[in-house]
Amino acid sequence: ASMGRFIAGLPKAEFHVHLEGTLEADMKFALAKRNGLSLPYADVAAMKRSYVYHDLPSFLKIYYDGMQVLLTEQDFYDLAYGYLRKAASQNVLYAEMFFDPQEHLKRGVAIEAVIGGITRARGDAAKSLGIESQLILCFMRDLSAGSAMEALDAALPYKDKLIGVGLDSDEKGNPPEKFAEHFAKARAAGLHVTMHCDVNQENTLEHIRTALLDLKTERIDHGGNIVQSPELMALARSRGIPFTVCPTFSGQVIEDGRPINALRQMLDAGLKVSVNSDDPAYMGSEYITEVLIRAQKDSTLTPAELVRIERNAFETAWIPAQQRDGYL
Ligand code: HPA
Ligand code: ZN
Repeated sequence: ASMGRFIAGLPKAEFHVHLEGTLEADMKFALAKRNGLSLPYADVAAMKRSYVYHDLPSFLKIYYDGMQVLLTEQDFYDLAYGYLRKAASQNVLYAEMFFDPQEHLKRGVAIEAVIGGITRARGDAAKSLGIESQLILCFMRDLSAGSAMEALDAALPYKDKLIGVGLDSDEKGNPPEKFAEHFAKARAAGLHVTMHCDVNQENTLEHIRTALLDLKTERIDHGGNIVQSPELMALARSRGIPFTVCPTFSGQVIEDGRPINALRQMLDAGLKVSVNSDDPAYMGSEYITEVLIRAQKDSTLTPAELVRIERNAFETAWIPAQQRDGYL
């Protein structure tokens, strides 16, 4: 219990949270009602019971299904403000949040509504709740390269509202180099670059290698399989590459059918690891405090390690050094 209080009180930063993955079932119902849509579930409990998945593709199906209720600027505002309010209540002082514009553009939502609503929520949350935040546009790697480029081009007029670009969705058959041109263009526009390397994916070490060596990613999201390559671990450590681990989803690497505690091994190897909630609305509504409490038990994290993790997190922030030092 005292460990729980310690974790709750720890000043925190979050770097791997998909805004659409914070869309709680009750908000989904409220937005559906507001937008005149009907949902195929009797109530919140029935909807939550449908959140059953066993791998990345089966998770993604539920996740993309869920976000279809997001249509207006106000919807995106409510989504982002809801997350920021929850995060602030858990003593998150700073967050960098992912969003998936392609899935919204697909159903005719304007990029202005998406970025506009989220940006307005960020401003209000900073003023009213004291939580600072920034936004990372993710390319959906399982859609075409052309679709991702359209989203980037649509968003670039709003690049001052973005801090970086990322890469998410189904990794199988979609290596990071599929988006080399996109990352280069985003960089040229002054944006930072991060990429998901989900755990236990086909060619996962190759994807980590390409992301680090060819695409010069500044961070890796998940990335737990790196513990299987001493060479890549040494490279990531020497470059100080941050890893945004989400224990709920990527804490366990499977090797020869046996689970490896990737978070523990990454910490022990001196990698710059932070702990994050990923898609809390679909992961038992466990936000960063609950995720850290569980990780503490599963990986027997000491108080010093918990402080180390949050220091790593704040050091990961894409903000001016002076602002970053203010948190440390
Ligand atoms: N990995 C890949 N795609 C995703 C994730 C993730 O953790 N969350 C939402 N989309
Ligand atoms: Zn993710």
